[in-house]
Order: sequence, then C-alpha cells, then structure tokens
Amino acid sequence: MSLHDTLADALHEARRRSLDLLDPLTEAALVAQHSPLMSPLAWDLAHIGNYEDQWLLPSRVGARYDDVYDAFRHPRRDRPSLPLLNPAAARRYLAEVRGRVLDALADAPLDDGGFLYAMVVQHEHQHDETMLATLQLMAGEGYRPLAPPPPAAPPRTWPDDVLVEGGPFPMGSDDRAWAYDNERPSVEVDVPSFRIDTTPVTNAAYAAFVADSGYDEPRWWSDAGWAWRQEAGLAMPQFWDGAGGRLRFGIAEALPPEQPVQHVCWYEADAFARWTGKRLLTEAEWEKAASWDPATGTKRRYPWGDEAPTADHANLGQRHFGPAPVGAYPAGQSAYGCLAMVGDVWEWTASDFAPYPGFRAYPYREYSEVFYGPEYKVLRGGSWATHASAARTTFRNWDYPIRRQVFAGFRCAQDA
Ligand code: AVJ
Ligand code: FE
Repeated sequence: MSLHDTLADALHEARRRSLDLLDPLTEAALVAQHSPLMSPLAWDLAHIGNYEDQWLLPSRVGARYDDVYDAFRHPRRDRPSLPLLNPAAARRYLAEVRGRVLDALADAPLDDGGFLYAMVVQHEHQHDETMLATLQLMAGEGYRPLAPPPPAAPPRTWPDDVLVEGGPFPMGSDDRAWAYDNERPSVEVDVPSFRIDTTPVTNAAYAAFVADSGYDEPRWWSDAGWAWRQEAGLAMPQFWDGAGGRLRFGIAEALPPEQPVQHVCWYEADAFARWTGKRLLTEAEWEKAASWDPATGTKRRYPWGDEAPTADHANLGQRHFGPAPVGAYPAGQSAYGCLAMVGDVWEWTASDFAPYPGFRAYPYREYSEVFYGPEYKVLRGGSWATHASAARTTFRNWDYPIRRQVFAGFRCAQDA
C-alpha cells in the first residue's frame, strides 16, 4: 500500500473509533462533565477536529474555534462553561475538516514520512483513550460496550521474574514519522543488571497488600505518598468496592484475580513495590526489558519484534474493553520473556518525565517540553484502551503521581 493510502486508512480508522465510541451516548451525556478531572466529551470531540484543522489545513475551516479548544487556555474543570459546539455541530465540523484533509493528503509530498498526519492520527486515538477514562468515571446507568470478554486465565507457567543482564542498549527512537519528539533521539544507555517481574501486578496480588493493612503502614510509603494517603483518605484502588468487587463502566462485577490491577496512582504502585521488597522500574530498565534482544543485539519496535500487533500479540484497541488475565498473550512476550509489556495496562515507572539528551521540541513545545519536570511520572506500554498506532516500546506517557483515572497498573523490579 502507498504511504498516502496507509495514512488515509489510519485517519479513517481513528474517526470510526471516535464516532462509534460516542454513538451510544445521549446529547446530555455528551455535554455533561462527568468528573472535574475530565473534559465534557463534546469538548474532546471538537478538539480532535480543531487539532486536525490547525495542523493539516493551510486554509482553515474553524480558526474561530481555536480559543475554546485550546487545552492550555482552559483547564479541564472550566471547560463545561465554554461556548462549546453542540455534538451535532461538532460532528459536522469534524467531517468538513476531514474532507479537506483527505484532499490535501492526496497532493502532499510526505517528505517527512507523513509526520504531521501520523501525529494527528495518534492524537485522535489518545483522546479516544481519554474519553474512555471519562466514560469509566460516568455515574449512573453506565456505558455498555459491545465487546467479547477477554480470554480465560492460562495456567501459570512462567517464572515470577527474569534477569536482564547489564549492558548498553539504544533507548528511544529515530523513527521520523511515528515517534513523538519526546522519544527522540535514540541514545545509548548503560543499564546495570536487574530482575523484572514477568507480568504486571495482578488484582489478587494487590488485594493481599490491601488485606495486609498496606494502606495503614507508613513504612511502605514515600513521604509524599503517605501525605497523599492521609489527605485523600483512600484505602484501595479506584472503583474497588472493598468487598471483592469493582465497578467497570457502571457495572458491578467480582474482581478478576488474574487481571492486572488498574486505577492505582503512582504513590500506591510505589508503596506496593516497597511492601514486596522491590521497587518500580526506571524508564530505561522498562524499555530495555521490552525492546532489547540480547541474542541478536537488536532493538524491537514491539516486545515480540517489529511485526505490527495482531490479535495474538497484545490486548490493545479496546478489543475486550478491559485488561486480559496476565499470560493471555504468550506470543507477545519480549526477548527476555516479559509478558504484557504492551497493552492491558499502562505501567507506572520510577522516572520523572525528562528530555533525552539532544531533545528538540517538534512541532510544538506544548506536546512534551512544557511538561518536563519532577511533577510528572512516566508511564509505559499502553493499555487495553490504547490504539496500536500509539503503542510501541519507545512511547512515553506521563501524569501526576496522584492520578488514578488512567488505565494504569505497574510491575516491579529488583537490583540483581
Ligand atoms: C500524552 C496523554 C499526557 O492527554 O495530555 C492530547 C496527550 N496531547 N492532546 C494528554 C495529548 C495533546 C497527552 N498525554
Ligand atoms: Fe489534545
């Protein structure tokens, strides 16, 4: 397929996903704010179109909307009071922008491999994941996704952890089309030997921490984590009911013991790791375990190799609308034997969000650069809600260490 066709298909697929996601919702559900942490869904929808309009159209359709849909001018909690396009008008705006974008794409030289188109595709999918987080927070009746359940938990045949021998590997990416600026440039990093858990921490394992009064023992928590624990007054992951159940998209269900825990914040992940005598991984450790093949001395785009994700490799793209039991995707294992490094749940790392040596903001400072600093922690790997086009071993996500609405869990490591 030509690059033009690949990009056009990727744009179509992102749009089908966004529209399908919002299709079952009433107008009231689209314009309401379901949590002060999130935008009204109608804001996300029109923002997707406005971003595409700004980055891909030399002759603009909706420049008059730029202020309302500028994420930096209006914090999420204030967005319900903005003069938002109603959902029908937003859909018309998106369609008009898209029609012109496809015309422009047909004549585009794509000398850079189509970076801006790839950025716009990934941006739409990232907002789709954000909208899924909003839907998980929506009270009442809930959202009823039509998705087959995840595969059953396989027998546990893997070791608890694996050794990653010390030595250098190339961290980051030089992919000019699909890598974001924060993944570039690739730089050699020497990582001392460490042991990494084969899988993310499961609900069953996390429930043992809760049952062992882990939330009442300051010794497991960092100072900032303990301050959060006391102030927030929370003693279990978000959406757990304290009686072996949880709420998913408004539906109560028993906690699946073998699925990765999700909706924990960084402080909770860090405390659990200390309780087990372990620690979180640095970003470099995570990326080496996910991407490096020590036998061939090559770096992989995905844990299993360079082949694009299939249904056998990873739980991505909301196929099951939730995480799968750990070990359900053996074909997706990394060279070191780590499972579910991509898909299922984002994994909190120990690392602050910081630039790699040689970083250059591109194409705008507000994608990554303005967020660099110790107040944000990096998440890796993508979740069940992440589209494959925004999931790779070099992809970096970030959030505040108190945030729990992200589809995030973690795994642990130890010095070797
Ligand atoms: C990379 C998920 C932190 O949602 O703030 C969306 C992605 N950037 N629109 C975010 C993003 C611009 C970003 N995260
Ligand atoms: Fe955005």
